[in-house]
Parts: sequence; C-alpha cells; structure tokens
Amino acid sequence: MPDLFSDRLLAWFDQHGRHHLPWQQDITPYRVWVSEIMLQQTQVATVIPYYERFLARFPIVNTLAEANQDEVLHLWTGLGYYARGRNLHKTATIITEQFNGKFPETQQELESLPGIGRSTAGAIRAIAMQQHAAILDGNVKRVLARHGAVSGWPGQPAVAKELWVDAESLTPESRTADYTQAIMDLGATICVRSRPQCPDCPVAVDCKAFTENLVDQYPGKKPKKDKPVRSTCMLVAQNPAGELLLKKRPTNGLWGGLWSFPECELNDVTSTLDQLSISGKLKNLPAFRHTFTHFHLDIAPIHVTCSTTSDNVGEPNAMWYSLESPQSVGLTRPVTKIIDTLTKI
Ligand code: ADE
Repeated sequence: MPDLFSDRLLAWFDQHGRHHLPWQQDITPYRVWVSEIMLQQTQVATVIPYYERFLARFPIVNTLAEANQDEVLHLWTGLGYYARGRNLHKTATIITEQFNGKFPETQQELESLPGIGRSTAGAIRAIAMQQHAAILDGNVKRVLARHGAVSGWPGQPAVAKELWVDAESLTPESRTADYTQAIMDLGATICVRSRPQCPDCPVAVDCKAFTENLVDQYPGKKPKKDKPVRSTCMLVAQNPAGELLLKKRPTNGLWGGLWSFPECELNDVTSTLDQLSISGKLKNLPAFRHTFTHFHLDIAPIHVTCSTTSDNVGEPNAMWYSLESPQSVGLTRPVTKIIDTLTKI
C-alpha cells in the first residue's frame, strides 16, 4: 500500500471513482464552474438533469451573459439557493465584459467574482486549468475532519483554517485534477455522513477517527439554534382562464428575482385583494411550512376564484401565469408546491 495519502486515494479513484459525470466530459473552465456552483449544496443525482438543460441552453459563458435573469432562474427552478443562479448570471456578465469572455486563472481574480469562494476557485483551477490548488467543500471537510481527527464544527473559522492547512498539504503536485475529483468522490460515496463505509476506504489505515473508533464524532456538529417562525398568507388568485397571479420579488432579498404569489398578513386579506383589484370566492388551501436557512415560514394559502379581474397586471412585475403554456421564469418553491396541489384537486 502506498505511503502517501494522495497515492492511496488516486489508486482507489482509478478503480472506484466516478469518471463519467457530465462535467467531466469536454472540460472547460465554464463547464466546471457551472457544475461546481450547482453542486455546492445539491447532490450529484439531482444536479445532472439541471446541468444538462442549463448547458444545452447556455453552452458558453457569452450565451449565459446575454440571457435575461428570468430565463436563468427558470432553469434553476427546483434547485434551490437561488443566489447561486443570480450570481452565476452576474459573473458571466463580468467575465464577458471585463475579461473578454475568458476565465481569469488566478485564485485572487476568481475569488473576486460573485459566488466564487476559496474552494470553488480552487476546484476550477485544479480541474479545469491543471493548476496545483486545494479545495475544501462540505464533503472534503468531512473526510479531513475524520482523517486528522480535527474537532469542532467546520463552519467555525478556526476549524476551517486547520482543515485548509490539511487540504493544502495533502494535495499532490501531480494529478491534482484527479485528486480533487477523488477526494470529493470519497466523501460522497465512502466517507458519507452517517454509516461511512470505512472497511472500503483507501485512507482508513491512518484515519485518526477510524483508528480511535470515533468516526461518528467527526466532523463536530453545528451548534443548534432554534429557528424563529414567521407566518404569511399567500393569495392564489386564479382568473377565469385558469391563470395565476404572480409577482416578481425584488432582486435583493428573499427569493430575489423569483416569481411568487402576492402575500399579506392573515388579517389583511380583504384590503390586499382590494388593492390588487381582485374579488371572488375564497377558499383556504392546506397550510404548510417552508424552511429557510434562518427561519421557518408558515404559509397559509388562500385560493381566490376571480370573478372579476382588472388590468392589475399592467405593472411589469406582475403577470398572469399560464399553467398550460408556462412563461420562462423562476418560481418559488411554494408556487410549484401550490400548483401541484391545485392540479391534483
Ligand atoms: N461536488 C462538488 N464538486 C463535485 C464534482 N466535481 N463531482 C462530484 N461532486 C462534486
């Protein structure tokens, strides 16, 4: 068995790693960048169809820069964490306008771009530019926290700093691209969060957590805080043609740039309908909870069968959304969920 961590990992990767993921074909900085952003908080199996649709529509950075935000978010609908989609679009514009359509190749320039942090910049350099660069995404944090028995929650800067030191020192000078993919694959398939497959792990022999039989104590857990609960009422207005009234959310803030139902406080339904110049029969739909990173949102949807609809959608940030021939816009999760409920009734 090879001495070096990276040699053991690479030998394992050659036999057991993933070699046929869509972003491993026709490698370019653009294709790797899009995949890394999509994979930031989403699993490979979920990402693949989104990635393929996205690349079919936006094959190079210029096509993405020229698109309108609604279309980008439309292709992102369902992936979540929409800031990723908005930043992708912003960064495409910057690369086209300020870098002549060519990806910058230094860590510093890459990190200056919206949505690209230290690890993503490292992944782009290692995988797409054949440079010697380290990564430390969620999977790698878990692998290294266990391997070095690094205690504490990796979200804490001091812990992350320690893990970065390990990440840098373990990354080999040669085959850096394969090594990068290998350590992510190890985290995704063997060194998984619960019930890791240690007997199959190529680096178990010198894994401190494994040899001390403390694998389930690493990485340290995030301190639990109770999330506050907010509530809102969503007005699901449907016109005689069956279309739904949606409003575009302001770019900055919650669900920025996505289209959602008008909202109001539970006791303001009547006045809000008046403001929207809508009237009709009201019916409560099943309430549900949507959880954001920082709080829970309890949503009470009220369906309004509009008898009269005025031209209240003359404003550019509102529209009647057609269920039969949907407009290419990004939708919030409550909208897709409520549409599902409505179409099943
Ligand atoms: N997670 C982040 N980047 C990845 C990649 N290139 N392949 C698989 N999973 C990943």
